[in-house]
Amino acid sequence: MEINKDVEKILVSKEEIKEVCQRLGKQISEDYKDKKLLLVSVLKGSVVFLADLMREITCDCEIDFMAVSSYSGTKTTGVVKFKKDMDVDPDGQDILIVEDILDSGITLSYLKKVLIDRNAASVKVCAFLDKPANRQTDIKAEYVGAVVPDEFIIGYGLDYNEKYRNLPYVGVLKREVYAGK
Ligand code: IMP
Ligand code: MG
Repeated sequence: MEINKDVEKILVSKEEIKEVCQRLGKQISEDYKDKKLLLVSVLKGSVVFLADLMREITCDCEIDFMAVSSYSGTKTTGVVKFKKDMDVDPDGQDILIVEDILDSGITLSYLKKVLIDRNAASVKVCAFLDKPANRQTDIKAEYVGAVVPDEFIIGYGLDYNEKYRNLPYVGVLKREVYAGK
């Protein structure tokens, strides 16, 4: 497979992504088999993962979307902005938040609190990637695809200034691409 010229190295290959989705889908299907699961995808990064993961889930489930932003380039601003709310009322729902990557944890801690305050029956987190090095809150994801090092990650939905979301693998962005920006 041809590797994008801005990618330093591949961390999770196409084949590994498939295995991760199968493993998580199986586990989620067992855990929610008697419930009505609502998958809430955090736009835009998690859409690629959501599309793969939901097709590995065999229990009843619905999907919804919300959009927040806390990033500017490669840096978190620490302030979460709500850009799009869910369509479904979270009241009484068993919600699994689907995220591309858990980094500082600021975004997910905020979203979890918002959904609990709105009386969701349960709120759990499924993060495709976990980057624990930079954690600033005590949030943990119940379901994690892969743990990644403290690098800037792109591909499989993850972007740098909106680029690279279409890469079918997860990779490290070359520093020279964003150094000094
Ligand atoms: P947190 O609030 O710092 O945990 O950041 C969560 C969001 O930041 C993720 O949903 C991503 O959209 C973005 N993010 C964090 N780390 C990276 C990265 O290495 N590459 C691309 N996006 C990232
Ligand atoms: Mg995101």
